[in-house]
Amino acid sequence: MKYSFNVNGQNLEVDAPENANLLWTLRERLQLTGTKYGCGAALCGACTVHLDGTPVRACMIPLSMVAGRSVRTIEGLGGEHPLQKAWIEAQVPQCGYCQSGQIMQAVALLEQNPSPSREQILAHMNGNLCRCGTYNRILKAIESVIQQR
Ligand code: FES
Ligand code: FES
Repeated sequence: MKYSFNVNGQNLEVDAPENANLLWTLRERLQLTGTKYGCGAALCGACTVHLDGTPVRACMIPLSMVAGRSVRTIEGLGGEHPLQKAWIEAQVPQCGYCQSGQIMQAVALLEQNPSPSREQILAHMNGNLCRCGTYNRILKAIESVIQQR
C-alpha cells in the first residue's frame, strides 16, 4: 500500500504493508529514531508525536490513519524550541529514553494553552512515564518557559 502524508513539513509517500503503524514507519523507514518504543501499548508515552497538532501515541496509530495528515516528531523541533532549551537548562534527562515523548507532550500543551496552571501541566503530562523519575525537572523546565512569556 502507498501512503502519502507530511512529516516535519515534508510531503512523503511510503510504500508499506497494510498493517504498518506510525512508530515503526518513522523509525525504520524514515530513520526518525528520536521517537522511542517503550511499551507498544499506549501506556508509557515514549512514542509521542503530533498528528495534526495533537499528541498521539505513535505505537497505536495505523499508517492508514495518517494518510493525508501531518506528523511532527522531535526532529521537527530542530533543537531550537524554547522547551528544548529549557530542558537543557534544567538538565532534565537521566537515561533520556522517555524524553522525546515528554517534550512532544509538553510542546502540545503549550501550543494549546500558553499559560497552564501547575495542575493543568501535571494532568496533561500524567500519561508520560519516566523510569528515572525526572518528573520534578520536567515540571521545572515547563514552568520556566511559561514564566519567560
Ligand atoms: S511505546 Fe507507545 S505508549 Fe509506550
Ligand atoms: S530519563 Fe530515563 S526513563 Fe525518563
